Amino acid sequence: MAALGHPRGARYDPEPLGHAEARAAVAAYYADRGLEVDAARVVISASTSESYGWLMKLLCERGDAVLVPAPSYPLLSFLAALEDVTLVTYPIALDGRWRVDLEAIEAAVDAATRAIVIVHPNNPTGSFVTRDEAAGIEAIAARHGLAIVVDEVFGDFAHGELEADRLPSFAGRAGALTFVLSGLSKVTLLPQLKLGWIAISGPEDVATEALARLEVVADTYLSVGTPVQRALPEILAARHAIQGAARARVAGNLAALDAAIGAIEPGSGLRRLPVEGGWYAMIEAPRALDEDAWVERLIEDHAVVVHPGYFFDAEGEGIYVVSLLPEAALFAAAIGRVVGALAGG
Ligand SMILES: Cc1ncc(COP(=O)(O)O)c(C=O)c1O
Repeated sequence: MAALGHPRGARYDPEPLGHAEARAAVAAYYADRGLEVDAARVVISASTSESYGWLMKLLCERGDAVLVPAPSYPLLSFLAALEDVTLVTYPIALDGRWRVDLEAIEAAVDAATRAIVIVHPNNPTGSFVTRDEAAGIEAIAARHGLAIVVDEVFGDFAHGELEADRLPSFAGRAGALTFVLSGLSKVTLLPQLKLGWIAISGPEDVATEALARLEVVADTYLSVGTPVQRALPEILAARHAIQGAARARVAGNLAALDAAIGAIEPGSGLRRLPVEGGWYAMIEAPRALDEDAWVERLIEDHAVVVHPGYFFDAEGEGIYVVSLLPEAALFAAAIGRVVGALAGG
């Protein structure tokens, strides 16, 4: 991390949309993934959370609405509340795989709606949308003049090859005004560096206007530190080794979870829900106790923290979300205790 201590970082020369080399490094990151992103349409922020806030300022007046998936990332409701934006959920439902309900999205749109948020892959379901679902969402957005905000922080963490019908990324797509969000907190597992970005695409006129207006928002804060911006090309270049280690960790822990479930009595009703990417797994358990009671029992009796599904707005009772990031031996021991307890009901 010597790159962060380089003297170039001491010079204050603010650029509201981000320094040119940082924006070019983000475009190069997408180019490496086979995605075309124009560096002139990249905005550097301090984090994905800040990007969400900026986009709500850009797209919404007080009381306007944004559609968000359920289940999904719990921070969305806090971010919206701070911007006086109303969240309206649309379901991601499990039917063999996790599916986006396009009819529910269409039905949820009203005069107050300004944007559709997609978390891709979603947290905690780990699901990617299909190409058809993406086109369907874009058609709804275009028809109603809505923006699409796509949170792709876990986009580099598909579990193996994505199925051919899944869309790898919304970056560069032009069917509707599209903002793709990501950043170093997940791409290089370095949340403490505080650098995120927004890649804008879509119809030329609206994308140009959105960029110009976003520049005013970004200029009001100038929140991204210079050292991390200047070091971004080097930091992003280092991502392959870091991501490789994280992917191996996640794959190993997912296998350990499946092995733990495989080792218990068949018919216990416990199962791991489908997952295609990201760092989490969802476990569905028999409903002998409510989620909070189980979470408390797992902490007190087994010294393991899991998250209850309702934190993520998951449908029904008896859903638990586990992180797949802990060190392998620790995870294997902990997940054995979790599965044993939940199955013992
Ligand atoms: C889906 C999702 N989006 C965004 C974030 C936050 O990213 P950042 O640290 O860039 O604000 C997280 C963090 O867990 C996340 O899970």
